[in-house]
Amino acid sequence: MESYHLPVCHAGTIGGLSRLEDMICPPGGAAYNYHTILKDDTLRIALAHPTRNDRLHGDERRMTILLALYPGLMITLTPGYFWYLSLHPRGPGQVHIRFGGGMSDDFADDPDAQDNFVALKTLLDDVNVEDRGCTEKVYRGLCSDMATPGHLSHLERPNYDFAQYLMAKIDAGRGEQGAA
Ligand SMILES: [Fe+2]
Repeated sequence: MESYHLPVCHAGTIGGLSRLEDMICPPGGAAYNYHTILKDDTLRIALAHPTRNDRLHGDERRMTILLALYPGLMITLTPGYFWYLSLHPRGPGQVHIRFGGGMSDDFADDPDAQDNFVALKTLLDDVNVEDRGCTEKVYRGLCSDMATPGHLSHLERPNYDFAQYLMAKIDAGRGEQGAA
């Protein structure tokens, strides 16, 4: 859910065009967190449409907003497209993921709209393959007897917030077990 993994995990797709130095990552709420990053000009459909979008101004025109709604919904909003991942755990070592997305109407009348749509679908498929590779490797590492917890980067604030949410739920569950 954080953008810290973008430059390495997504080096083949969106990693190079996401500017982490411009990331804004406020503290999350009880059931969500969000942060924003700015994208460069490389991917046109991630930016506000140059002529049809007069609603967004300044940095908003290149801003991507990443939302995590606990426990298992992640939504990425850009001025040109959105996509979501809906995570359904199948046990400790498996998760079923449903994903989808769509494009802004601003791009629908462009002569190359269909090409953009195909490019977006291909991009999201590729990003998901990258995420799968990274998360499976991280999970294998975490399961190792040699694994020890490390510090989180300040760029991993969403992970910290989610961990706090999980801890609160676990504590609440223990309280209910104790009361039963
Ligand atoms: Fe990712």
